[in-house]
Amino acid sequence: MSRVLVVVPTYEEAASLPVLLPRILEAVPQADVLVVDDASPDGTGDIAEELARTETRLHVMHRTAKDGLGAAYRAGFRWALQRDYDVLVEMDADGSHLPEQLSRLLVALEDADQVIGSRWVPGGAVVNWPWCRRLISRGGTAYARLMLGLSVRDTTAGYRALRRGTLEAIDYSSVASAGYCFQIDLTRRVAAAGLRTVEVPVTFHEREHGRSKMSGAIVREALWRVTWWGLQRMLRRRQGRSGRG
Ligand code: GDD
Ligand code: MN
Repeated sequence: MSRVLVVVPTYEEAASLPVLLPRILEAVPQADVLVVDDASPDGTGDIAEELARTETRLHVMHRTAKDGLGAAYRAGFRWALQRDYDVLVEMDADGSHLPEQLSRLLVALEDADQVIGSRWVPGGAVVNWPWCRRLISRGGTAYARLMLGLSVRDTTAGYRALRRGTLEAIDYSSVASAGYCFQIDLTRRVAAAGLRTVEVPVTFHEREHGRSKMSGAIVREALWRVTWWGLQRMLRRRQGRSGRG
């Protein structure tokens, strides 16, 4: 029986977290949960700690500063791999990813190295998401697919299940991305390692409480990193064709 850990990164999710955590524990009885809180000023870490006092499957990591989604996941994955978990799940804290749909990712992982809960495959959907965010997501994915030669349709998705072996094979701790392009980095590294990514349709619901941490800086970081990775890829292909390098 695989040991599953759902890693939930949080920054100011005090209103959402108490609703989400019981849903995860009920929807996936075989999973544990790790909340990775970046010193949320709204007391999210304390709320998680209080819930963990009476729930042995729930764990909390308190970080000292807001350091980005990428750093939070790297820390959560490191914690998990030190504790012999076999399957790592990424899930947002704000209810956008439905715990009740997690089983479809875990089933698909039996024949894959990474499963993405995808908004942009047949059957996928987004609910109450502003058109500008749809545009950023669709545009970001289209640009990443073009520059990086990826076949995945939702490269920035934050709902994933990965095997521990996959994280070890892609050297996850060297992923430099701070923001959401951490997700694109994971996608491209899994592909570069010749490992198999499967997408299953999910419904992404925009949050009902709190606010998104998406920012211009996060978008700019994704733009320059994807451009740099794409140029490196083109150079490698050109050198391959000329037989140099
Ligand atoms: N620990 C920590 N530190 N958690 C963070 C940080 C941070 O600096 N920034 C964001 N988070 C957490 C949020 O608390 C939430 O649980 C999750 O990361 C997603 O943050 P949101 O701010 O809700 O993301 P979004 O809804 O705008 O963006 C969605 O789409 C992106 C692009 O497709 C998310 O699903 C992203 O994961 C996804 O990459
Ligand atoms: Mn969100």
